[in-house]
Amino acid sequence: MNSQQDFLRDAMRRLNLTRDAFSDRLGVRRRALDTWLLPADSGEARSMPEMVEKFVSEILAHEAHEARDTGAGPGRAPAAKPLAQRIAAEGRPHLLSVSQFDRGSLEELFQVADLMQPIARRQKVSRVLEGAVLGSLFFEASTRTRVSFGAAFCRLGGTVCDTTGFTFSSMAKGESIYDTSRVMAGYVDALVVRHPEQGAVAEFARATNIPVINAGDGPGEHPSQAILDLYTIQREFSRLGKLVDGTHVAMVGDLKYGRTVHSLIRLLSLYKGLKFSLVAPPSLEMPPYLLELVARNGHVIEQTASLEEGLRGADVVYATRIQKERFVGEAIEGYTPEFQVRKSLVDALCKPDTILMHPLPRDGRPGANDLSTDLNHDPRLAIFRQTDNGIPVRMALFAVLMGVENQVARSMRDAGWRSPSHVGPDDAVFDGLD
Ligand code: NCD
Repeated sequence: MNSQQDFLRDAMRRLNLTRDAFSDRLGVRRRALDTWLLPADSGEARSMPEMVEKFVSEILAHEAHEARDTGAGPGRAPAAKPLAQRIAAEGRPHLLSVSQFDRGSLEELFQVADLMQPIARRQKVSRVLEGAVLGSLFFEASTRTRVSFGAAFCRLGGTVCDTTGFTFSSMAKGESIYDTSRVMAGYVDALVVRHPEQGAVAEFARATNIPVINAGDGPGEHPSQAILDLYTIQREFSRLGKLVDGTHVAMVGDLKYGRTVHSLIRLLSLYKGLKFSLVAPPSLEMPPYLLELVARNGHVIEQTASLEEGLRGADVVYATRIQKERFVGEAIEGYTPEFQVRKSLVDALCKPDTILMHPLPRDGRPGANDLSTDLNHDPRLAIFRQTDNGIPVRMALFAVLMGVENQVARSMRDAGWRSPSHVGPDDAVFDGLD
């Protein structure tokens, strides 16, 4: 890992500056900044002078100080009130909807997620949640959300008890959400809940005083996924020298039932001057209440059923799976080939610095026409960097909701076991770049 690169990228992200603006602020030539941002093993890479490092640290410290004093603007919420209180749902530390966040609170959460990176990468360990127990209740299919929430809690020193599906829970015997939630609160210290009905997780939250996290409520929201998606976009953009403000995002697929896009478009609309290309098969378009919300925030929305039109020039392509299990009489069976995001189209219509995302799972069955596997070796495909980011982001959510975010930094010790330097065989390309 290259800490100089990480250091400079994190600084640009925190200061919300492009490479041009950042080099101006530092009073150095853009070309010099570029060489400091190259991977260490590149022949052209240069170490930045110690003076520059000191100057950047001073700017960051100054910004943090200003944020504490002024309590306004991005990343500048008043430090006196803990983040959990500022993002509270009905006064309590739950995560039910992305509407609980503004730009400042999001940026603060991302700083906690950055702090978690060495733990997520298995270089450090922490026990700040030692003794705490997470109850994980999944009444719908899940692999990554359930396991990554569990792994995030364990990596902070807690333990996890879980139950999956209605069949093996007392809800199959007719127990109400209220009773289930109240009972669980006596056993565990936080709940992560996925449920097929929109609004059901909020009902769990109303029945308890322990933190409840919405891990997906039917076609409603999936806030932790959208937060990790935005965190991924920001990290990829800081590598590419781009800003979220003014970017062009294409969302493709089942925009009617896809809860990840419902949460993500709300979060992105906190930024300024975005263009959204919404590409959906007829009858699976984005719900009107979300279109209105995005338009009210001054963004441009183009709806189309043509993938070619939607992908042209996009900075981010966010593909989704057809949520067939939620259909109520929709005629469509799945994607037709015109909706498949595949390499030939991406090469023809997108840029070298476009990023390709998907909340996963992608439907890999023959004829599914979901995001194509022919992009698997394309460096623009960010889907596994996206899943990896689920760990630090979910760790940050737990730390904030359970009030230990200020203990994390001093709790860290070196990990005692040997772990691979990159977890996936293809990640070496991004070693030091991510
Ligand atoms: C999504 C979900 O469950 O909403 N998956 C996830 O959590 N990453 C998307 C999907 O099921 O298609």
